[in-house]
Amino acid sequence: MEGHTEHMNEQFLPVALATLQFERAAPCDLYRRIHDGQYVFFAQKGVLFDSAARDRVIASGADLLYIREEERALYNAYLKETLVSIVSNPAVSSNKKAEAVHAACLQTLQRTFEEPRAVFLGQACEILEPTVNLIISDDQATKHLIHLTTYDHSTYVHSTNVGIFSIALARILFGGDNQHDMQALGAGFFLHDLGKCKIPIEILNKPGLLNDEERDIVRRHVLDGYQMVENSGLMTDEARTIILQHHERDDGMGYPHNKGAEEIHPYARICRLADVYEALTSDRPYHNSRSSFEALKFMKEHVVSGPDEQLFAGFVKLFLA
Ligand SMILES: [Fe+2]
Repeated sequence: MEGHTEHMNEQFLPVALATLQFERAAPCDLYRRIHDGQYVFFAQKGVLFDSAARDRVIASGADLLYIREEERALYNAYLKETLVSIVSNPAVSSNKKAEAVHAACLQTLQRTFEEPRAVFLGQACEILEPTVNLIISDDQATKHLIHLTTYDHSTYVHSTNVGIFSIALARILFGGDNQHDMQALGAGFFLHDLGKCKIPIEILNKPGLLNDEERDIVRRHVLDGYQMVENSGLMTDEARTIILQHHERDDGMGYPHNKGAEEIHPYARICRLADVYEALTSDRPYHNSRSSFEALKFMKEHVVSGPDEQLFAGFVKLFLA
């Protein structure tokens, strides 16, 4: 029953309404945040969370509820299970599946960037699994996911978009070849920019050009991200390589190791292509966004050459109606 118990001294985490299943028991106690920043008890763990309750939240203009920090693991387990059941349910439309995994990806990556500790990285990888499964098995859901990618310069939105584009491209390139571990690749793609959590926000969002010192700090994100996932012991060599090499360039002018074309892993190439496209189509402090068509045209004329041409031909297919 909804009440007005206030909890002043606890940590709360937002959860997207779209990640909660209705007509099912609430996974943990749920709270609403009210205008003065306090949290009000809304629904009890284990009690049916019905559509009338959802409608009350929507009517209040919110699309988030809150859980207590101490129940985070409980919620994450519920979220994984919910996504698996939605993705595997033939009665749920592809578009609804895409919307559920998209909301979960955004929320999970936002939280991972805020608190990139090994335990949360592991939970994030678990939650991203059903998204990878959806993209490699459902064309309509993939099209809808690509349609759902929205552009701003938040690192977690960028990471969600690049993850979606990259897995979809990997599926086109590798098809049913089971030598490629798509789950492992998915973790690398979604978390390719994890090291950016160490960049001060004023540098990340600086309008205009970065000075040499600032550029060195930004460039460190590939080594920091690599080190973070290495320390966590959670990812495969290939996934770590994606993180490490996604800013290398065929002309040897990339970073961190100035690798040449033949040394850059195909998985990192996929991520780089998606990364460039996403950067061109999003509003950044230093440029306005291009349309999808303009971005692809620019890439064809100025970015793509050599080994990337075949990848790019596959990439373009993602945006055909
Ligand atoms: Fe990056």
